[in-house]
Amino acid sequence: MTERVLGIIGGSGLYAIDGLEDAEWVSVDSPWGKPSDAVLCGVLNGTKLRFLPRHGRGHVQSPSSINYRANIDVMKRLGCTDILSISACGSLKEELPPGHFVIVDQFIDRTFAREKSFFGPGCVAHVSMAHPVSSWLGDLCEDGLKSLAIPHTRGGTYMVMEGPQFSSLAESELYRSWGCSVIGMTNMPEAKLAREAELRYATVAMVTDYDCWHPDHDHVDVEMVIKTLLENADHGRDLVREVAKRLNTWAAEPTCGCDRALQMALITAPEA
Ligand code: ADE
Repeated sequence: MTERVLGIIGGSGLYAIDGLEDAEWVSVDSPWGKPSDAVLCGVLNGTKLRFLPRHGRGHVQSPSSINYRANIDVMKRLGCTDILSISACGSLKEELPPGHFVIVDQFIDRTFAREKSFFGPGCVAHVSMAHPVSSWLGDLCEDGLKSLAIPHTRGGTYMVMEGPQFSSLAESELYRSWGCSVIGMTNMPEAKLAREAELRYATVAMVTDYDCWHPDHDHVDVEMVIKTLLENADHGRDLVREVAKRLNTWAAEPTCGCDRALQMALITAPEA
C-alpha cells in the first residue's frame, strides 16, 4: 500500500495538536499564487500530517479572498492523499444544535466570486461532482467520532454561500426548504478543486449557531460563532488524532475513486 498523507484544512483553533512529532511550518510556492499560509507538517499517530489554516494565522483571509487553488495545490505538492476539512457552520435543522458535528455528503454551491477550476482554455476537464466527498474518508471520520462519543450525524447537505455577510431570514428559510443541513462560506470551491487534484476529500462541519431562522435565535453574530468554536476546538483536535490513527491502518481500501477522478474527465485532445 502506498503511504497515505493526511491534509487538514481548518480553523486557526485547531493546529495546536498535542503529540505532533517533528513539527515545522513549511512555506510552499504555487504557480496559482499565494496560499493562505505556510503549512504545519509533522507526524501524528504514525501518519504524516499537513495542516493549513484556511484563513491564515490570525484569520486574515475572508472566505472570498482565500486562494483555494493555491491551497489545494500546496497540499498536493506536500504529498497529501486525503484532505479533511473541518469547518465552522451554521445549523439549518433543529436536530443539529451548536456543538454537533456533521459528516457532510452533499453541497450546494452558491458562491460566485472565486476561481473554481485548475482547468481552462487549452486544457478542459469536467470532473464528476455527483458524490462530492470520499465515503471512505467519511467512514474514518464516523468511526473516530463514535470512539470519542462526540454527538454527530452522518450525511447532510452543506449550503455554501459567498458571504461575508450572514444570510437574510428569507435566504435562511429558502435553504431550509431545500433540505440543507448546514451553512458555511468556505467548502466550495475547495471540494471541487480537491476532486480535480484527485485527492480524497471529506468535510466535518462543527455547528456553531442556528443561523437566523430559529425562533429562539434572532440572528447569528461572530461572538456566538467564536465562543462555540473555542468550546469545541478540543473535539476537532481529538478527531484529527483519531483520523490520523486510522488513515494507514484501516482494513478496507478506498473504493471512492477520488484518486482517479480525471480518468474520464479530460476532454482536450492531446497535441498531435
Ligand atoms: N459559519 C458559521 N456560522 C455560519 C452561518 N450561520 N452562516 C454562514 N457561515 C457560518
